[in-house]
Amino acid sequence: MSLLERLRRQVIADYERKTPGSRALFERAVETLPGGVSGNLRFFPPYPLYMATGRGCRTVDVDGSTYIDSFACNGPLLLGHRHPAVVSSVERHAGVGSLVLNPELAVECAEKLKQVIPSAERVRFLNSGTEAVMTAVRYARAFTGKPKVVKFQGQYHGQDDQFLLGLGADRRAFSAGVPESSQDGTLTLPFDDVEALDELLGVRDDIAAVIVDPAMHAGGLWGVTGEFLATLRSRTRDAGIVLIFDEVITGFRLALGGAQAWYGITPDLTTLAKALSAGDRLAAVVGRADIMEVSDPRAGRDVPRAFQSGTGNDGTSALAAALGAIGEYERLERAGDYDALAGRIEGLEAALLDAFEDHGIAVRVNRVRSLLQCFVADPGAPGERDARLSGALLYPLHLALVNEGVLLALPGSDHSFFSFMHDQPALDEIAEAVRTVLGKYPFAEAYQEAYRQKMRGRVPQEPSAGEAPSAADAQGSVDVPPFGGCVLPCKVEA
Ligand SMILES: Cc1ncc(COP(=O)(O)O)c(C=O)c1O
Repeated sequence: MSLLERLRRQVIADYERKTPGSRALFERAVETLPGGVSGNLRFFPPYPLYMATGRGCRTVDVDGSTYIDSFACNGPLLLGHRHPAVVSSVERHAGVGSLVLNPELAVECAEKLKQVIPSAERVRFLNSGTEAVMTAVRYARAFTGKPKVVKFQGQYHGQDDQFLLGLGADRRAFSAGVPESSQDGTLTLPFDDVEALDELLGVRDDIAAVIVDPAMHAGGLWGVTGEFLATLRSRTRDAGIVLIFDEVITGFRLALGGAQAWYGITPDLTTLAKALSAGDRLAAVVGRADIMEVSDPRAGRDVPRAFQSGTGNDGTSALAAALGAIGEYERLERAGDYDALAGRIEGLEAALLDAFEDHGIAVRVNRVRSLLQCFVADPGAPGERDARLSGALLYPLHLALVNEGVLLALPGSDHSFFSFMHDQPALDEIAEAVRTVLGKYPFAEAYQEAYRQKMRGRVPQEPSAGEAPSAADAQGSVDVPPFGGCVLPCKVEA
């Protein structure tokens, strides 16, 4: 048995000892919920954690164990769990009823977005990031009269058929059940490749929109610079193409005004969700008034009309949560807390690098403000990730951290989202837990062995039948794990 496999078994055994309640609930849940979960990304092997509650940057599982929560339910909890500003706003509006026709709250919330998001001349509320992306693309197609939309490889834009492709380094569809025809309208390009962009724009005049996640979040935060975004802005403007920033992750997170404020680049349309309502169910498409006019029911015959309506678009609780959250983000920005949070996470990045270096493990940390991802690097090409070793080593690392009361990332997903509630003592606890697990479990030895095998042309040993699968195995591929941050070919930053 390889050291990697021995390590994995040791970590899983400790996890099973710590989480009997989650195991029992999982065994019950699989009888009704496929995989025991309400979304594929909530699962990790051998069975996921089931949480009972949360407050601030901590969450408590059904066994009563507390964890520092840097998974944050995949990003929305930028204010942590149960922030008083959000809770009190929801309570204040509780008497309205869950849904009323055309609530004043929606007008108030839209006015607030117009104040804080640079591109927001008009606002349409919806329920999820997926819907926001679908809608923004529909508006762009209606406005331009053109059929194609460009996305970048490695980027995730929600679960609409037309975007479930190109999550790896090629165009491969990411899901069964998606007809090829639904992806015909989507073109893919490598991120941060101006030459490829120019080549495409040089030969096509049927492109309605380019959509980009400005932090390259699902692709591992690699190669993110304002420079490429600025190039995208000028090329799309010159070509009459609608530039969509998908700020479902970056909105309110990189800055109060999102990535567009942080990089100083204003797109034509923007999608918002997640942190918009700090964990409630609200999304929005915001953008240029002339484009958004396609969704104006009063529009005249000369304006192409795009349909969009959703029963829950303006639910009271979500709008109230958003108003409370945005008010708090404004206060935090005025107080300099966005920079303070980014500074704290920069300190954590340094502490993580030190800890791994002390154990002889080559790690690369990518960070954009309060977003962070670790990769096992390739010692042969410093700075580049080693997708295979990353998948094999980071799954037990994140599971081992769970054993120490730290949910740095969901094992197998590797994305860390920090909130304003992650104060210095919490971050010190995370760094300490990383040092503890690197000392307690044979990570360094497993890494050295796997690396030596790799140098001899062998891959880290795969688990045999009946053995606990690694995160990468669970995701169906070692080289291209979805959302594992190992999606794209490596890129070395200067
Ligand atoms: C960049 C981006 N766009 C869109 C979505 C889809 O959002 P939702 O899960 O709310 O549908 C996500 C979800 O993670 C995302 O990361």
